[in-house]
Amino acid sequence: MKVLILNEKDLRTALKDSNPIDDVEQGFKKLTLNEAVLPGIISLEIPEKKGEFHIKGAYLQGSPFVVFKSANSYYDNPVKGLPSSSGLFFAFDSDTGFIKALMFDNSFLTHVRTGISGAIGTKYLSNKDLKQVLIAGCGTQGRFQWEYLKKVRSIKKLKLWDIDPKKAEEFQNEIKAKDKIDVSVVTSLKDTVPECDCITTVTPSKKPFISLEWISKGTHINAVGADNPDKQELDERIYGIADVIIVDRKAQCVKFGETHHAIENNIIKEEEIDGEIGDVIAGKVCGRTSVDQITICDLTGVGVQDAAIAAFAIKKATEKGLGTYADIS
Ligand SMILES: NC(=O)c1ccc[n+]([C@@H]2O[C@H](COP(=O)([O-])OP(=O)(O)OC[C@H]3O[C@@H](n4cnc5c(N)ncnc54)[C@H](O)[C@@H]3O)[C@@H](O)[C@H]2O)c1
Repeated sequence: MKVLILNEKDLRTALKDSNPIDDVEQGFKKLTLNEAVLPGIISLEIPEKKGEFHIKGAYLQGSPFVVFKSANSYYDNPVKGLPSSSGLFFAFDSDTGFIKALMFDNSFLTHVRTGISGAIGTKYLSNKDLKQVLIAGCGTQGRFQWEYLKKVRSIKKLKLWDIDPKKAEEFQNEIKAKDKIDVSVVTSLKDTVPECDCITTVTPSKKPFISLEWISKGTHINAVGADNPDKQELDERIYGIADVIIVDRKAQCVKFGETHHAIENNIIKEEEIDGEIGDVIAGKVCGRTSVDQITICDLTGVGVQDAAIAAFAIKKATEKGLGTYADIS
């Protein structure tokens, strides 16, 4: 019995010049249509080491695989010369339960599917014609957000903010070398946010840094960074002025992510969440209905995204003859 082994380099090659946005959308849609099996999440935190493990998985009906993954973040790793993210995907044969592929992705696949979820939030909820976009958080995930955002909207002006302006400058230089876009670093969110009609927040911040007073009509916000109960990027009162509140998974977002802060602080009730992103993709919930609406998409990361991206990566890697095989007979 052979198991496909793919490392991060194989996976980057497998996904090069491909676009898995449709596949991840289908994962969300299957969840809405009860065509997915989604177990609970295992989250393990080691505060004294600034470390987190998030174990997720899913089965998408019709898929050859049942997928589990561990995505790990150690925020002090950069001081040791290591990336903050690591991790591993397991793909099991959905007919037999035997392991079919091990993907040592170092969280690459998690970053791809998360970048895609921000793009999906923007595609379905933002206005079509965007004047100015802000990415707040210029770490690994900020880069993946940009990579997929530019596939769903034609962006004229991009603003980059990070608590550490040097990180925003590095990211700006990378973008300038690759993309023809008006990109600049900002240090004042107060001056920048009111001019932006699409905002993606993607930091591990535990204090809100986007204020209610700065949000203009028509703005869409993808809240991506807060994926545990302590993290918070948005002033929870923004939920009080939002016309449309969409989450990736209600059961998750009411417990952690941005939405739970708004519920805990009595800004909104759980019933005021308009739906899940899969509902919007499937046409069960309409999302934005006018240009002036303020929309929020709270993204905490759902196992169906992992199942979709894993199946896509295995397909592409197999087509390209990548990886090695381990005999486990
Ligand atoms: N929702 C999801 O599905 C999902 C998936 C992956 C990662 N995440 C989350 O996204 C966040 C960013 O992940 P990453 O991999 O880009 O991390 P990273 O360490 O590579 O980058 C984080 C960036 O945020 C900045 N930052 C750090 N602390 C900050 C603070 N208090 N306020 C503002 N900015 C701050 C850092 O300077 C850095 O540039 C994390 O919270 C991570 O858990 C969410």
